[in-house]
Amino acid sequence: MTATPIAVVTGASSGIGAATARTLAAEGFRVVLTARRTDRIEALAAELNEAGHQATAYALDVTDRAAVDEFATAFRSLAVLVNNAGGALGADPVATGDPADWRQMYETNVIGTLNVTQALLPALTASGDGTIVILSSTAALSSYEGGGGYVAAKHGEHVLAETLRLEIVGTPVRVIEVAPGMVRTEEFATTRFRGDTEKAAKVYAGVDAPLTAEDVADTIGWAVTRPSHVNIDLLVVRPRAQASNTKVHRTL
Ligand SMILES: NC(=O)c1ccc[n+]([C@@H]2O[C@H](COP(=O)([O-])OP(=O)(O)OC[C@H]3O[C@@H](n4cnc5c(N)ncnc54)[C@H](OP(=O)(O)O)[C@@H]3O)[C@@H](O)[C@H]2O)c1
Repeated sequence: MTATPIAVVTGASSGIGAATARTLAAEGFRVVLTARRTDRIEALAAELNEAGHQATAYALDVTDRAAVDEFATAFRSLAVLVNNAGGALGADPVATGDPADWRQMYETNVIGTLNVTQALLPALTASGDGTIVILSSTAALSSYEGGGGYVAAKHGEHVLAETLRLEIVGTPVRVIEVAPGMVRTEEFATTRFRGDTEKAAKVYAGVDAPLTAEDVADTIGWAVTRPSHVNIDLLVVRPRAQASNTKVHRTL
């Protein structure tokens, strides 16, 4: 009997991470849900287990290297790692943006992804067929006004994905970057605007059907279930109403 393949999802307590955990569980992976908010990942793990899937919750801050290394000791073999934990803080212009916000975004999106990827790469390689997903953004590919710190961090994550793919070619591990455009998730814009729900709502105002967390999870589920020799290097996914980071059709 072959063991159930394991998928680790970071930032599984909300939005795209939670939806991805659901999708991968339905695809037959034993999912390991990580995030800082234990109550949320435990509730999701319980829901998935009740539905007949296999799920475990593990509290983890991806910026805490010692904790990430400790977490990684649990895995001798790992099929999938989804680096999803991340997000934006603020929408200030470069002229007045807070360096602390820039630092935090770099720390979470880039160093967090680096920490978890480095720690779990041996187990992904040992599986003989590993997949690393890096959830960047269309902000990883082009800039927009007020996006500076987030755009810089996501460009950093994009470079991490591109460089890693070059460096590990020839090993049984593929690197898939998924770059979504506008996704209306529960918390992304509210976190960006520090709890100001009015400002957060304006991000999506008049936009006919922004992407949902489930749309992105569906994309990730598709990419990781391609045959092993197929590497989806970079997948850009936007809502139909968004032609670029700065060109969004709004019915206002
Ligand atoms: N929504 C969009 O429009 C959009 C578009 C493109 C890309 N993305 C990217 O997609 C990813 C998920 O975004 P989302 O929209 O689902 O946002 P979200 O609902 O705000 O979720 C962010 C997740 O990241 C986790 N997280 C944040 N800092 C963390 C840390 N230091 N350690 C561990 N977990 C941490 C949060 O969990 P805890 O707070 O519980 O730790 C949460 O589960 C992010 O990387 C984001 O940049 C989003």
